[in-house]
Parts: sequence; structure tokens; C-alpha cells
Amino acid sequence: MEKREQWGTRTGFVLAAIGSAIGLGNIWRFPYVAYDNGGGAFFVPYLFAMLTAGIPFLILEFGMGHKIRGSAYQIFSRLSKRWEWLGWWQILVSFTICIYYVAVVGWSISYFLLAFNQGWGADTGAYFFKTYLELSDSPLNPAGIRWPVFASVLAAWAICWVVLFKGVKRGIEIASKILMPLLFVMVIIITVRAVTLPGSLEGVNWMFKPDFSKLTDINVWIAAYGQIFFSLSIGFAIMITYSSYLPKKSDITNNAFITGFANCGFSILCGILVFSVLGHMAQHQGVGIDKVVSSGVGLAFITIPKAVNSLPWPVFFGTLFFLALVFAGMSSLISICEVSVAALTDRFNFDRKKAVSVFCLIGFLFSIIFTTRAGLLVLDIVDHFINNFGVLAGGLVEIIFIAWFCRLVDFQEHINKISDFTVGSWWIYCLKILTPLALGIISIMNLVEDIT
Ligand code: PHE
Ligand code: NA
Repeated sequence: MEKREQWGTRTGFVLAAIGSAIGLGNIWRFPYVAYDNGGGAFFVPYLFAMLTAGIPFLILEFGMGHKIRGSAYQIFSRLSKRWEWLGWWQILVSFTICIYYVAVVGWSISYFLLAFNQGWGADTGAYFFKTYLELSDSPLNPAGIRWPVFASVLAAWAICWVVLFKGVKRGIEIASKILMPLLFVMVIIITVRAVTLPGSLEGVNWMFKPDFSKLTDINVWIAAYGQIFFSLSIGFAIMITYSSYLPKKSDITNNAFITGFANCGFSILCGILVFSVLGHMAQHQGVGIDKVVSSGVGLAFITIPKAVNSLPWPVFFGTLFFLALVFAGMSSLISICEVSVAALTDRFNFDRKKAVSVFCLIGFLFSIIFTTRAGLLVLDIVDHFINNFGVLAGGLVEIIFIAWFCRLVDFQEHINKISDFTVGSWWIYCLKILTPLALGIISIMNLVEDIT
């Protein structure tokens, strides 16, 4: 058996973890979630969820990977043979995310190219649905493959394959060291440009205007926890896998804090960026911001292109925005893929090159579903189930198992031995009581909502 790979530098690991955390969710989900859930007041539940659940959980996952050094299924099976399935479940969830996340990265690549001459035209909604996707009428009617989409998804897979093929240190680490700093610089440049547009201030005010009455609404708290878990990539075996490549001497808690705060800071930056653009657009069209606000696919591929059309320097703005989207998405995609690659290597004794090639081929074949004319429709359904059941429920089962069925203090001791900043009883309390309670309530509420 080959020796387990390792990160070359601490910065490399931290940038890769940040690369996983920062993704499409920060750019197209966070701004809207904050706006929709109390604006400035949303920061109360958001920071609460981050400090009592997100970061403690991240510290735990880093500690689990570092202590046990295996892919997800091995980590759970070494803790208890009867819990190996949980590892496989998380691997399955991340594989599912991977095959549709890659589609969105593919669309972003297409839109990056379109941005050079605003190829999306004036009616960006019609362009996206009718011209680009040629959307069919039902998720059950694939109506054939959309070749331009297919080509861009293939390109996304090719990049992933190259990076993963080169390994942890020479592939993922180097890619993170290139992509992440560039991403930060690009987003800062676009944000500076965006906040100086007329109308931008109103937009930003809309996002941050606090509505404290929302704090008593449980849905706002659910949104905060959901956003934190998805955003920090916890509960999908990703952070466990990445930290299993840490060298013996590594600081766990500091790395987790850096990752958490970098992700949060980046989200806020994206909020300012997106709402400046929306504010400018609303002013330009002479309508209220509630008429232009959107999130997800609609924000990225319809609203932003439309905004770009009316901006000064549209080519600059458009290409930079979509390149940022590609970089953010790509670094997250690589992290999700690595979960399965690690599992294949460990379970079947494949060497990395074989595991990566087999995985990329299988993943590519599955992702063809999302290149058909029904792709977006299927994506919406899968995404809904993953968000409601995969993300929070996976985290809930994991935390119950680790905090209540394993000795959490063993992890605490392990983490404290190697970290500068030690975790105390607050950490135990958050993981044993607060987080499972919050996730439990949320899972039940989601279930009830889906049934009724
Ligand atoms: N954290 C990423 C984001 O915010 C999403 C992601 C989820 C990445 C799951 C990997 C796995 O977009
Ligand atoms: Na994120």
C-alpha cells in the first residue's frame, strides 16, 4: 500500500479548506438568505450558528481526520464497526452533490465565455432557459443532450481530473494556492467597482437593514444553520477527508477558526457586491429592489448578466464575475470529488491515478443527466432533497454518534495536544447539547413541511 499523502504546507491545507468552504453558496445563496431573513438582524442567528455549531463542528471534523487518518468510511468504521454506513452515506451524498455541482460550474464556464461579448443578449431570462438550456417541459422528459452544456461540463471534469490526478500536494494544494488568492483579488476588484455605482448604497442598505422582529421566527434560525453547514462543507465527509492528509504536527483549532472566518468574511463581501449591483440595477430600471432581487441560478445566470448589460465596462465586469464563479465553484468541486477518490483508493487499493480516472469517468457519466434539456429541472429536485435531508440530517446523525456514542473527550484531548488554542467545556457543551438540539428541531421541521 502507498503511504498516505500529505499536505506540503499549512497554508496549502488552509487554502484548500477555504476553497471547499467558499463556493457558489457564498456568492449566490448567502446574500439572498441574509436579505430574506432579517437583513442585518440575520447576523445574530448566523454568527450564533457559526460560533456554537459551525466552528466547533469544523474543529471536530479536522480533529477526526487528523487523528484517524482515513477516508470517511474508515474513520467511522474505526470508531465503531456498526457505524461504517454513516461514512458511506456521506460519501454518497457528496457524490450526488458533485454530479450536479459540476453542471453549474460548467454553465459558469460557458457564461464566462459569453461575457466577452454579452452573448446572452438583452433578454437574459429567455437566453438562459430557451437558448442556452433549451429547457424541456418536465423533469421526466430529457429531450436529448444539449451539446454546448455537455461540452462545458466535460471541460469542468477535465480540469478536475488534471488537478486530482496530480495528487494532494502537487494537485489540490497547488490549485488552491493559485485559485484562492486570485479569487479574493477578483472579488475585491469587482466589489470596489460595484460600490461606486450609482444606486449601490441603497442596495447595500436593503441587505443590511435589520429587521429584529425576525429573530423570533424559527425559520430564520433554520436558514442560518442551513447556510452555515452547507457553507462550511460540514457533514459531507469533505473536511474529514482533507484533514486526513494533515501532517502529525498541525494546529487544528486555529485552522478551523481561520477557515470559518475567511468563509464568513467572503460571504459578507459577496453580499455587498451582489446588493450593490442589484441596487444599481433597480435605480437604472426605476423600480424597487424587491423587483430585481433573486438568488441561486436566477441570480447568477439571469439577473447578473442583465445587470452587466447596463454597467459601464460590461466586458470587464462580466468576465471577472464569471471567472470568480468558476474559481469558487471549481475549488469546492475538487474537494467533493476528493471524498470519493480517497474512498476508492482506500477501499479497493487503487493507486491515485486509477482511482481518479475511474471516479471522473463514473461521475461524468452520471452528470450527463444534467446536460440534457431537463437538466435544470432535475437539478432543482435533487438540490431540494440534498439541502433538506442530506446536509442537516447527515450532520445531525454524525454529531449524535460522535458526541454520544464515542468518547468526545478523546478527540478533545487529541486536538488540545497539538493546537495552540485549546478547546474547553464550551466546545463539549456545544457539540453534545446545543448543536444536536438545533439540528434535531430543524430536521423535524423540514420533514413536517415536506409532508404537509
Ligand atoms: N461550501 C460550498 C459552497 O458554499 C458548497 C459545497 C457543499 C462544497 C458541499 C462542497 C460540498 O458553495
Ligand atoms: Na461556503
